[in-house]
Amino acid sequence: MSLTLPASWYRDPAVFERERQSVWRSEWLMYAPAAKLDTPGQYVAEEVAGFPVFVVVAPDGSLRGYHNVCPHRAGVIVWPGDGTAGNLVCRYHGWAFGWDGGLKAARDFGDDPGLCPSDNTLVAIHVERWRNLVFVHLGEDPPPLADALAPFALECEAFDMEAMTYGHRLVRVLACNWKTYADNYLEGYHVPLIHPSLNRALDMSTYRVEVPDESYCIHRADTAEGSPSGGAWLFRYPNLAVNVYADGMNVERIVPAGHGTTHVVYDYFATDPDQIEAMVEMSNVVLDEDQMMCEVVQRNLDAGIYRAGRLSPKHENSVGWFQRRVASALGERS
Ligand code: FES
Ligand SMILES: [Fe+2]
Repeated sequence: MSLTLPASWYRDPAVFERERQSVWRSEWLMYAPAAKLDTPGQYVAEEVAGFPVFVVVAPDGSLRGYHNVCPHRAGVIVWPGDGTAGNLVCRYHGWAFGWDGGLKAARDFGDDPGLCPSDNTLVAIHVERWRNLVFVHLGEDPPPLADALAPFALECEAFDMEAMTYGHRLVRVLACNWKTYADNYLEGYHVPLIHPSLNRALDMSTYRVEVPDESYCIHRADTAEGSPSGGAWLFRYPNLAVNVYADGMNVERIVPAGHGTTHVVYDYFATDPDQIEAMVEMSNVVLDEDQMMCEVVQRNLDAGIYRAGRLSPKHENSVGWFQRRVASALGERS
C-alpha cells in the first residue's frame, strides 16, 4: 500500500520549523476546556508548537486570543498557565493594551514621536468555541470553526458533552517527535503486544480504524464480551483525539514543544465526577506503555539506520492517511 514518511522528518529541526507554519498555523486546534474560560478575566496561556499564545475572557464575555508577545521587547502579557487578569499589561515594563489588543499606554516611556500605537499592538489569533471546548487558529483567514469541524462534529452529536463536567488535566512529556506519538495513536496493530489490559478488554479481531473524511478517523472495536464499546474514539488531524462515551470523555492533544519533545495533554470530563479518578488511572497505564515504545522508536529513528517502512493495509491505513496529510501540508509527496 504505502511507505511511511522518511525517518529524517522525525528528527530534522528544519522539518519541524516548516511544520510550525504548514501544520500548526493552518488548522483549528483544540486549546482548552470552556470551563477554564467562562468568566471575565479568566485566561489560559499555553504554547502550541513553539508559539506562546493566550486566550482571555474580555469584560463583555467574548473570547480574545493573542500571541503572548509584547511589541516592545517581547515580554509576556500574562504568565504561562491559567489565571485571571483584570487588564492586559505587559509583565516586563508595563505597557498596557486594550481588550482589542491596541496599545493604550507605554508606561513612563519618554517623549518619542516615532512611537506609533498602530505599529505596537498585540498580534491576535482566532478563537472560537465548539460545545464545551475552545479552539484557536494561529493563521490568517481560517474557515469558520463550525465548517472546519462539521464531519467530526456530526460523529459527536449523539453524545451529551454538555452534561459532562470538566474534572482533571494530565500532562505527560515525551522524548519523541509529535508524529511518532500520533502514528502510534492511529493504529491498533500494536495493542496485543504493548497493552495487555486493553487487549483483554477488547475483541482485537474486530479492531479497525476508518477514515470517513480527510479531516478525521475513527477507531472501533467490540468489547471482549462481544458488545459494541458504545463510544467513539475519534482523531482529528493534526492532533486532537476525543474519546467519548455516554457518561464521560477524555480529550487528548498531541502538542509539540520542539522537534524532539511532545506534550500529551489529557482533559477529562464526566457526568459523575467520581468516575474521573478511574479514567485517569486507565489512561496512565496505557500512556506508560505507549510512552515507553514511542521513546525507543524515536531513538531508533534518530540512529540513522532506518529510512522508511511499509504500512499494513489492514491495520495502518489511518497512519498512511495522517502521514499523507502531513506530507501534503509540507508540499511534498510521501
Ligand atoms: S516588553 Fe512589554 S513593556 Fe517592555
Ligand atoms: Fe497504544
